[in-house]
Amino acid sequence: MAWWRFWRRSGDGKDTTAGNMRQRSLMGRLFLRDVPYVLPKDMGEVNRLDFQHYMMRSALRGNYAAPIGTPDSILDVGSGTGRWAIEMATLFPRASVTGIDVAAPQPDESAAGAIAQPANYQFVPGNVLEGLPFPDGTFAYVHQRYMIGAIPRDQWPHTVAEVVRVTRHGGWIELVEAGTSRGGGAALATVDGWVASVLARRGLDIHLGSHLREFLEGAGASAITVREVSLPLGAYGGRIGTLVESDYFAAVDAMRAPVIALGMATEEEYDRAAQAARQEVQRGKCVFPVYVVYGHRP
Ligand SMILES: C[S@@+](CC[C@H](N)C(=O)[O-])C[C@H]1O[C@@H](n2cnc3c(N)ncnc32)[C@H](O)[C@@H]1O
Repeated sequence: MAWWRFWRRSGDGKDTTAGNMRQRSLMGRLFLRDVPYVLPKDMGEVNRLDFQHYMMRSALRGNYAAPIGTPDSILDVGSGTGRWAIEMATLFPRASVTGIDVAAPQPDESAAGAIAQPANYQFVPGNVLEGLPFPDGTFAYVHQRYMIGAIPRDQWPHTVAEVVRVTRHGGWIELVEAGTSRGGGAALATVDGWVASVLARRGLDIHLGSHLREFLEGAGASAITVREVSLPLGAYGGRIGTLVESDYFAAVDAMRAPVIALGMATEEEYDRAAQAARQEVQRGKCVFPVYVVYGHRP
């Protein structure tokens, strides 16, 4: 399906190809054309995802929660910039670590700043909505984070079943997703509502994080543990609260073009609401829920 037809305004009208993926530009941002994924796929988003990765590792005090021991094989589903998988490859040098994503990570072109990729890490291109291209029981640990904007609600049972299928018996599966902000005022609720509506138009469900247990249970996982972590949103929460706020408003910025292109708000309305939401966050007491859910393949 040509998902880009979904945007009412076709943006700058320019199509480009990045690796194996076709992209469409919209109000200065690049979006994937051929999958339901709603967030941009450009350098601005690479920067946000890397920042978000460091924020999550700091806020959750580590890159994983499941009792994985020393796994010999790890898969990251929807690996994005590859930052999580590369760090896991460094942390577990004897493990073979694979990242799979529909679009290859952007190469780091700055020779001086390039982070060398460990030899035990590899990237495999693949569309998770078409299944995972690995035999049953390939990995000791499978991790999937922040795929709410990529997997339509009715495809979650199938995609989680795929994640469980490629996990070895006795191995672990970990799913991490976020919810919507709590404790704000009318402006935050408005912005969150627009974002939820953009997702809903593609069959995506922003509230799905609290249902991850059901998907894992339905796919036959056991010993399921659910951790709902309320991250502080705003400077009242100290260093973490400030990081969460930066990431939250970078995501609000990333969703600006889709909301406007769908005619849900004008540019002025969006920017005014985003500015008012920033002020609500300064009042303190806002939180941002993250769901960390892991289970075992018996
Ligand atoms: C919000 S990012 C999260 C990236 C990474 N998991 C992280 O936590 O930083 C979602 C990722 O899913 C990828 N994606 C979107 N649709 C996909 C699909 N159908 N199959 C595989 N990957 C997909 C995007 O390219 C993007 O890298």
